[in-house]
Amino acid sequence: MPNHDVRAAVFPVAGRGTRFLPVTKTVPKEVLPIVDRPCIEYVVAEAVAAGIEHLVFVTAKGKDALVDYFMPDADLEAFLTLHGKDDLLDQVRQVVSMADVIAVRQDEALGLGHAVLQAKDAIGDHDFAVLLGDDIIDSERPAIAQLMEDRPSGHAVVALMEVPSAHTSRYGICAGSMATPTRMAVHSMVEKPKPEDAPSNFAIVGRYILPADMWHRLAETRPGRGGEIQLTDAIASLAAEGRVDGVAFSGQRFDTGNVVGLLRASVHFALKRPDLEAPVRAMLAEMSNR
Ligand code: G1P
Repeated sequence: MPNHDVRAAVFPVAGRGTRFLPVTKTVPKEVLPIVDRPCIEYVVAEAVAAGIEHLVFVTAKGKDALVDYFMPDADLEAFLTLHGKDDLLDQVRQVVSMADVIAVRQDEALGLGHAVLQAKDAIGDHDFAVLLGDDIIDSERPAIAQLMEDRPSGHAVVALMEVPSAHTSRYGICAGSMATPTRMAVHSMVEKPKPEDAPSNFAIVGRYILPADMWHRLAETRPGRGGEIQLTDAIASLAAEGRVDGVAFSGQRFDTGNVVGLLRASVHFALKRPDLEAPVRAMLAEMSNR
């Protein structure tokens, strides 16, 4: 019997990060910092805060630094102990103890749907979450937990956000009927439609809860937009059966997949840090006069 509790999550992190070249030649884009933590940690923390215990990273060549970040480092711990840096030692250990992390490889860049499928054996016959590292959501209640609430058994749930019509070609777009002001019964989904072809302006943000029977759908999904195996297309087959809900989550979303979005997130989270708020405000005031 499939288990419908969501205890495991897939993090597709195999992308090359071309928008951040040249730094991403040697540094995975997921470890680029927001203040003093890698981007991916904000997304992992969201999943952990929602009760997710097992994390599966779908990686590629060159992503060791990302996986290592969540693994114990005996040398570093010995160094910090020797020098009496207990506070830093606690912080380093806390990251490692956040959750169980395993990494699987996507050997060919065949698309997001294909990347998620690589986690099949690691997850097994369970409902699971998918969190995309480029989308960071700051919210009181973790966005992925908002998707788990009131989920009918066997349904997929995707996070939705209204976007300007001119931006539909950047997102998966959902159409359906609003069951409540924040919940859509999704009838159809299309990956990155041109504005004139978009059935609505409700875009999928990178948070999904997927039922255990997604695996065979992913395996059967043929290449779509851009010649890639799209997660949106695999979920669309469930939408056709009335088994997809969209949730307009509450929270602030940052697209850290581009340079300005990453800077914006950095400033946002720095302003939330009591030790940084005043100097960062002073810096912003000084720079706005240039
Ligand atoms: C992916 C998905 C897309 C979704 C988006 C959210 O696209 O394919 O459906 O709307 O993430 O960020 P990507 O941004 O990886 O091209």
